[in-house]
Amino acid sequence: MSLARTVLLSASRSRWLADQMMRRAFARRAVKRFMPGEDVTDALGAAQTLAAGGIGAVVTQLGENLTSLTEAEAVRDHYLGVFDLIRERRLASQPSVKPTQLGLDLSFEACLSNLETLAAKADADGSLLSIDMEDSSYVDRTLDLFRKLREKHERVGLALQAYLYRTPKDLDALLPLKPIIRLVKGAYAEPPAVAFPKKADVDEAYFALGEKLLGAAAKGGAPPIFGTHDMRLVARLAAKAAQLGVKDGGFEIHMLYGIGSSDQRALVRAGHTVRVLISYGSAWFPWYMRRLAERPANVWFVVKSLLG
Ligand code: FDA
Repeated sequence: MSLARTVLLSASRSRWLADQMMRRAFARRAVKRFMPGEDVTDALGAAQTLAAGGIGAVVTQLGENLTSLTEAEAVRDHYLGVFDLIRERRLASQPSVKPTQLGLDLSFEACLSNLETLAAKADADGSLLSIDMEDSSYVDRTLDLFRKLREKHERVGLALQAYLYRTPKDLDALLPLKPIIRLVKGAYAEPPAVAFPKKADVDEAYFALGEKLLGAAAKGGAPPIFGTHDMRLVARLAAKAAQLGVKDGGFEIHMLYGIGSSDQRALVRAGHTVRVLISYGSAWFPWYMRRLAERPANVWFVVKSLLG
């Protein structure tokens, strides 16, 4: 892992820095590049604009570890309202949630119950509830949550991270469920004992996992979701899909708002199904630092915003 990435990811866990940055106008200006606004209506407005260009959306309220289950219930109720707004506006959008934001640190059972309420809503609306994968200390519990949800609900998806050594085994264990998997490289600071430190190894692990997901899709599994801006990987996976006979629409490509916009449009023109994950909310600091860590050159945008 590069020094800049290590520094930015450890900064993402600093409460002091979060307090400082979130109060500064220049930081809010810089964040705008990755987030249309702090309110859900900002995110849905951006989703509407993207929809005009044939691009769907996934929306997520920022915020991670909580201090009370009442806060988790408020997050659950917020997302119930988001499903309603999406339906009323007839948007091709779906919510994505973080288990810690629904109470995982406080009670597994309470988090499961909050997720069940949202999964039932996704089923009723014909939508999808996507579950993000957080740092490696949460993977076992998040997989347990997903398995329990899948006992009763079809419309639930899960993110898996290619940088973790364990993911091929986790995927093999999940495949009999025909799961909807969003494959990502992984955004957290993980030690070399649990995750590949070298980017080239992560990229190869991603391709191997993607190939397995496409193989499963070719045999009637759910269409995989490739959550990446890595166009080289997307091209390799698209070629593999064609080779395996996975038809158009047999997989989706998801990117983050503000990153790779011209690639998103080019992929739509080439006939691919593309969605953009749009974040909103006031608790943007740790999420924003992970975006900077993915491309430390982004720090330049912060400097430019500081200069006005
Ligand atoms: P890579 O880092 O190789 O980047 C490929 C190219 O994209 C770079 O060359 C650069 O040009 C551009 N790029 C990438 N990130 C950029 C940035 N921040 N700013 C500007 N340009 C950038 N992680 C996780 O741990 N759990 C999760 O649940 C999710 N969920 C998720 C959903 C979706 C839809 C996406 C796209 C990503 C995630 N992630 C995630 C984040 C993911 O793990 C990873 O950190 C980022 O996607 C960056 O990796 P890439 O695959 O884009 O490749």
